[in-house]
Amino acid sequence: MLLNLAAGRRVLLAGGKGGVGKTSVASAVAYAQARAGRRVLLVSTDPAHNLGHLWERTVGDRRTPLAEVGAGRLEGLEIDPVRTTEEHLAAVRATMRRYMPEHLAGEVDRHIELARDAPGTHEAAILDRLAETIESALATDDLVVVDTAPSGHTARLMRLPETMSAWTEGLLRRQHRSGRFGRALRRLAPDDAGVDLVGSGERKVAEEGSRGSRDEELRRLLTRRRDRLAGLRDLLADAGRTAFVIVLVAERVPVLETLELHADLTRSGLAVSALVVNRRSPDAGPFLAARRRGETGQIDHLRRHLPAVPVVELPLLEGDVLGVGGVARLADAMGAAADPGSDRTADRLDP
Ligand SMILES: Nc1ncnc2c1ncn2[C@@H]1O[C@H](COP(=O)(O)OP(=O)(O)O)[C@@H](O)[C@H]1O
Ligand SMILES: [Mg+2]
Repeated sequence: MLLNLAAGRRVLLAGGKGGVGKTSVASAVAYAQARAGRRVLLVSTDPAHNLGHLWERTVGDRRTPLAEVGAGRLEGLEIDPVRTTEEHLAAVRATMRRYMPEHLAGEVDRHIELARDAPGTHEAAILDRLAETIESALATDDLVVVDTAPSGHTARLMRLPETMSAWTEGLLRRQHRSGRFGRALRRLAPDDAGVDLVGSGERKVAEEGSRGSRDEELRRLLTRRRDRLAGLRDLLADAGRTAFVIVLVAERVPVLETLELHADLTRSGLAVSALVVNRRSPDAGPFLAARRRGETGQIDHLRRHLPAVPVVELPLLEGDVLGVGGVARLADAMGAAADPGSDRTADRLDP
């Protein structure tokens, strides 16, 4: 089921709270797809990266091969929020300093400092990087698997193009009062990521130049970024190309959080393709059997509230999901869960 979901698509996102097995599940899907011959990029946007821990190798902010997989290819990438933000800010600062009169240099630095701590700066930088990463990966890879942050930023990403339209219009109105900041702004192209940094400084500068053509240029600059995010949103909202799975464990709080996340994603126009109940206890001995019954109750609750969303169960493995061997074991369990006829599935699925 999970592997079929991934097989027909270009993007698969794994969401859910921390510690439930997002990275493990994302890794196993990516590995299984690469093993089946596809070129796969596994991207982590979770600031608490653990692709590297799980694969037992240094991954970091560059495409890194994760495993030998025969015909396919598997590479990993951890988007580093701090570095991404710093790079954005450094580029913006350099560009602005180049085009601003010397006496405004202090002003520029102050804006950059404010932007660094502004709420949402890191997240905006990550979303921008993710949009860019997926866009370019679509040309070179068959599948992008995204291990998302537990913060629910995917739902926000879906709303970002609209937010940006309102924001663009607001900035254009304020821009009527801007002169030199406006000029500097236009020269930031093609790296328009920093335009929001100058929003609060323009009032200091007198208006000059032709308002009409300046507005046109600025509008183009601002809409380019918005269009890229809108393109990504359309891709993510297209259930034919993108699958979103929520990973959880069958306990009371994670189940309640899953219902909330599902509602949030649905409101944002993202269909949830499957609920992946990870670490299902085996029916072995009274202690684990009791745990399993509790889990079954939670899964029933989930099914009652979300009857249309398929539920996939993955077994608790004996050891951690660690290294290629661990990932392969979880991938095999997914294969078994996909095939209701297999013996291994029979003792894992509830009747
Ligand atoms: N099916 C499983 N069986 C056994 N251990 C698992 C399973 N799935 C995940 N784990 C372990 O649970 C821990 C958390 O998993 P991880 O994928 O890092 O979660 P997340 O990315 O959601 O924070 C890790 O130690 C991992 O090895
Ligand atoms: Mg993780």
